[in-house]
Amino acid sequence: MHIQTQVQLKPFNTLSLDAVASHYVRIQSVADIQSALDFAAAENLNVLVLSGGSNMLLPEQIHALVMHMDIQGIERISEDADTCTIRVGAGQVWHDFVLWTTKHNLFGLQNLALIPGLVGASPVQNIGAYGVEAGEFIESVQVYDRQIAQNISIAAQDCHFSYRHSIFKDEPERYVISHVTFKLLKQPDLKLNYGDLKAAVGADLTAENLQNQVIHIRQTKLPDPKDYPNVGSFFKNPVISQQAFDQIAQQFPNLPHYPQPNNEVKLAAGWLIDQAGWKGKTLGAVGMFHKQALVLVNYQQASLQDVRATYKAVQHDVFQKFNIELHPEPVLFDTQGLICSHQDEC
Ligand code: EPU
Repeated sequence: MHIQTQVQLKPFNTLSLDAVASHYVRIQSVADIQSALDFAAAENLNVLVLSGGSNMLLPEQIHALVMHMDIQGIERISEDADTCTIRVGAGQVWHDFVLWTTKHNLFGLQNLALIPGLVGASPVQNIGAYGVEAGEFIESVQVYDRQIAQNISIAAQDCHFSYRHSIFKDEPERYVISHVTFKLLKQPDLKLNYGDLKAAVGADLTAENLQNQVIHIRQTKLPDPKDYPNVGSFFKNPVISQQAFDQIAQQFPNLPHYPQPNNEVKLAAGWLIDQAGWKGKTLGAVGMFHKQALVLVNYQQASLQDVRATYKAVQHDVFQKFNIELHPEPVLFDTQGLICSHQDEC
């Protein structure tokens, strides 16, 4: 394990923000996690766990130990007549893993192709797309639990997966995820209910075609961070009460909406931002993408302040027009490497 100092994290965060870490270490094994945490404790440093950097907002200076997760490996653990259980290192690239499952005739994750980031981050916000969430196929998550100083396995039902949420979001400083164990299907069960996915897949009802169509849809709508630095959807889709929805729908009858359990309704943040005039609009170096208004793009070496100015302006305009609050999806860190809320003083 090699601790480095004053490391530039710009290549490691997909919004391409300048961010220098006072201390940095690459984590390649479960043993490295323990050693890194011991070092941080001895040096009195907070710990910031860096995965694919595709869902985080970093300040310019971070006084902390950045643990860059790089545990590799895809391992078949067990199988029965219908399913196969696979354990994957947290540092494995998510999209490569999805491609691997399809190549090995294991099914379930095809709708989640091309989501940026690493496998270790998939349970944290329960990544989801095109009608499927990762949590549906996660059997357990292997973690180092800092509270009890032990490596443990957390069963999926105890992860409390919900829309872009899990226990790992509730207690972000507590767990360091080393592996994720998936239970995948041996026979395809294609999920085609989202939007026009069914039409895109057409008559070729194979998992490989489904995966290719998802890749194609994403490539046509969502910017590649290499060309347009971004963190995917910048805001969560807001979930409001049926009563609040009925009121807004009177004024905006075309409002896209998705009924949820508990008499709630999910709205499309992209549509709200688009209607508020922000699709393709920029404020300084930062703007909302011209093909998908939900994606904030760093067009020209923006700082975190620039990002904040733009997203606050978007929140303001959406609130003025619809009386709906948008909440950012990426995690914002402070200069001490701790997660903070999206408040001005952070
Ligand atoms: N829309 C607009 N204008 C826009 C963008 C969207 O009118 O600029 C409308 C669309 O026409 C559609 C609705 O909004 O009626 C929803 O749009 P879309 O199907 O593109 O999905 P989304 O709600 O914007 C969510 C996820 C994406 C995921 C897609 C597909 C969230 C916050 N985002 O986006 O996830 O890929 O569905 O399942 O839930 C991510 O989390 O980073 C991400 C990209």
